[in-house]
Amino acid sequence: MTKAIYPGSFDPVTKGHLDIIIRSSKIMSHLTVTVLENPRKVATFDVEKRIKMLKLITGPYINVEVDYYKGLLIDYAQQQKVNIIIKGLRAISDFEFEFQMALVNQKLNPAIETLFMMTNSKYSYLSSSIVKEIAALGGDITSLVPPEVHNMIVSEFK
Ligand code: PNS
Repeated sequence: MTKAIYPGSFDPVTKGHLDIIIRSSKIMSHLTVTVLENPRKVATFDVEKRIKMLKLITGPYINVEVDYYKGLLIDYAQQQKVNIIIKGLRAISDFEFEFQMALVNQKLNPAIETLFMMTNSKYSYLSSSIVKEIAALGGDITSLVPPEVHNMIVSEFK
């Protein structure tokens, strides 16, 4: 069994996240998509909504489950007995910070590996912040988010 964790704040989930979920679920026997708090960000969507969105979009993928954890990613991975963390990488701008996080996590627990998956070029410009900015200003986010979560995201800004 090759199990992995795909962690993130998913605030909200985008088509870019879903692409990483689909691709990594094909190479892993089990994938847990876990909502974690990012201490550097103030979330717009509460945890329940983020979990609901992830459950809606991952429903068709039988080897994918959704979870939430409050605390360090590395502690969560250890508790779950999973030693692979998947991170999506969009651009060179993501690299420096993700590199630092991977090294810190490696320092905290060398048995846990971070694997980076390159974004699909279709979504290289996409981020949760961009989705929120467009939605907050009344723009059309149809092409940016999975259809199952579109209305939930739009209603958050009404
Ligand atoms: O989607 P994001 O916001 O880029 O995800 C970042 C996240 C939530 C994965 C990261 O902030 C995280 O791992 N948070 C849990 C706390 C932790 O373990 N931090 C790393 C050690 S400094």
